[in-house]
Amino acid sequence: MTASFHEMWQELRPLGRNSATGGYRRYAWTGADTDCRAWFRAQAEARGLAYELDRNGNQWAWLGATGHQDVAPGEAVVTGSHLDSVPDGGAFDGPLGVVSSFAALDELRRRGAAPAKPLAIVNFGDEEGARFGLACVGSRLTAGALTPEAARELRDADGVSLPQAMERAGYDPDAIGPDPERLAAIGAFVELHVEQGRALDLSGDPVGVASAIWPHGRWRFDFHGEANHAGTTRLEDRRDPMLSYAATVLAAREQARLAGALATFGKISVEPNGVNAIPSLVRGWLDSRAADQETLDTVVHGIEQAAAERAARDGVDLSVVRESFTPVVEFEHALRDELSTILGKTAQRPVPVLGTGAGHDAGILSGTVPTAMLFVRNPTGVSHSPAEAAEEDDCTAGVLALADVLEGLACR
Ligand code: GLV
Ligand code: MN
Ligand code: MN
Repeated sequence: MTASFHEMWQELRPLGRNSATGGYRRYAWTGADTDCRAWFRAQAEARGLAYELDRNGNQWAWLGATGHQDVAPGEAVVTGSHLDSVPDGGAFDGPLGVVSSFAALDELRRRGAAPAKPLAIVNFGDEEGARFGLACVGSRLTAGALTPEAARELRDADGVSLPQAMERAGYDPDAIGPDPERLAAIGAFVELHVEQGRALDLSGDPVGVASAIWPHGRWRFDFHGEANHAGTTRLEDRRDPMLSYAATVLAAREQARLAGALATFGKISVEPNGVNAIPSLVRGWLDSRAADQETLDTVVHGIEQAAAERAARDGVDLSVVRESFTPVVEFEHALRDELSTILGKTAQRPVPVLGTGAGHDAGILSGTVPTAMLFVRNPTGVSHSPAEAAEEDDCTAGVLALADVLEGLACR
């Protein structure tokens, strides 16, 4: 691990960490997020980089420019990731990319490599969508993939709206909106990320390049039944939404298995949530992903149909809302191949090219900006959990690979 990486990692490590679970709770616009943002700004300033906060609350650190307004269209080379987490997330998903970006810049300086193009490091806000339900809010707003009007409607579990949360954290929610000039300044965005599977572990490679992101989305299933006494209501008199929900979870697994896709109910809310009461409402969130759009549509349609059939049998009313969707992303071939060529020179063998089912800000930007990703080996393959991992040597390999890429893209 490079010295600067190690130091940054130690500083970031305690921020937002829950000591009971060992997982991170760095939700957008909370105190832990504020601490991570202060850390980012301090890293930028310690390196003499120009710090900039954009209209959507994303943080930027510029070398060779004071902001995108100084940059000719397509000139900037940008790297970075996010610092927020899922509930009890691992240490690496997001922070590995941000810390590696600063460490790669340190490595370029150590090499005496002088960037001929402006370089920037970015921390995109609210990538995981853990608080407001929608992933990649910062990059979506910037890319115009989320309108300010729709963003203002987002609410957390306590009913706090996104503008209220931003305001409480000291940001101006009236400023949010698309930022096309900023994106036009970017000639290449490269996001380094911990791998969220075991492909690199199995192939024996520390670093890989991304090919594509599966299409994915989130759907909210509301099962409305009738609250009643758990001890006195005959089974045949119940309208129990938990039954319909349970059958839907099983159907999701079956549909996904048959299609070679993924379907997960990972979040649920129950009303009134009493041990001795039949619920009046069970709300479950489905996350589903597949290699192609047609398969994803088939899986989700199958799950909706199974839910509707079971709800009808249980006397339960069902409504399904699609809360977010990200179409398939095929990373730009020219940039991807350039990365493979740059990395192949050092690795002296072809660098693996991998697809992923995980969403990323790089995927959101890819519609507008040439975008690529580097993955760093994760020996557990686990992600969105405290068991997420990366070995020190692989973190170093990631930093050096990113430095090679930045040097190749910006220093010529
Ligand atoms: C983000 O990590 C996602 O894939 O949901
Ligand atoms: Mn994630
Ligand atoms: Mn991530």
